[in-house]
Amino acid sequence: MISASGRPPILQTVELSRSFGGFRAVDGVTVSVEQGDIVALIGPNGAGKTTLFNLISRLLPPTSGQLLFDGQDVTHTSPQRLARMGIGRTFQDVRLFDSMTAWDNVAVFAQSDRSATLRSGLLSPRAVRREARQVRERVEEVLEYAGLSAVASTIAGELSFAQQKKVAIARCLAQRARLMLLDEPASGLDAGEREDVAKMIEKLAGDGVTIVLVEHNMGIVREVARRAIFLAEGTVVGEDTPDRLLHSSELAEIYFGHIRSTAGVA
Ligand SMILES: Nc1ncnc2c1ncn2[C@@H]1O[C@H](COP(=O)(O)OP(=O)(O)OP(=O)(O)O)[C@@H](O)[C@H]1O
Ligand SMILES: [Mg+2]
Repeated sequence: MISASGRPPILQTVELSRSFGGFRAVDGVTVSVEQGDIVALIGPNGAGKTTLFNLISRLLPPTSGQLLFDGQDVTHTSPQRLARMGIGRTFQDVRLFDSMTAWDNVAVFAQSDRSATLRSGLLSPRAVRREARQVRERVEEVLEYAGLSAVASTIAGELSFAQQKKVAIARCLAQRARLMLLDEPASGLDAGEREDVAKMIEKLAGDGVTIVLVEHNMGIVREVARRAIFLAEGTVVGEDTPDRLLHSSELAEIYFGHIRSTAGVA
């Protein structure tokens, strides 16, 4: 399927499913995301949002269905290759290297394809120096973009939670992700920090990065997302603008019925 822009959607899933034992965590999900869009994936706890991210980033193989990136079938592509192709993601539980600096956390993701060649010792000292300089410049640029330059040499475990989440996004940038899957980028943040994240998401989209975010904070969903996909019990039950979707009493019942007991939900 080609969009009006003449480009294929950056991401398509076709009847994508994943079972754990007899339990279908993701059940026949067909979604499409256009290049440059900001799409929110919402739904109650346990709906399968993170599992869907795991399938799209290929950290989990699907039980059945198809995954396309830029119109290309990547259902059986390795997560490493998908990352090189331009899919980046953050994790609900952040997952930085806590004992490494913010700089080093980002640098790990800024290595080029040539780094593997460098490690195998096939390149000249001049090429090695050039590669090291390029990585340094890339890390500097990305930390600056994310507003993290001042904490570049701080150990990640000592950063504030909001800064840690920014480092996670900066890593996607270092890897030159064109599609970023952000799993609850605003959870655990205060109002000012959430606003900061919203601005960063909008800036990324303005710079051509396509964003899919999972988020329970409906304030940020309404603020940044142009479209929302509602997932419940592993299936898509609605897709619309966030406002229209959240006005559906049926979906609100599914969402708030499940989530009322969860703290920190706006
Ligand atoms: N590795 C696994 N093994 C077994 N069950 C799993 C596994 N991963 C996820 N599940 C189950 O799949 C369902 C969907 O989980 P998932 O983490 O995708 O939900 P979610 O929508 O991200 O929820 P939340 O909003 O709480 O983060 C849950 O019932 C979960 O327990
Ligand atoms: Mg989740």
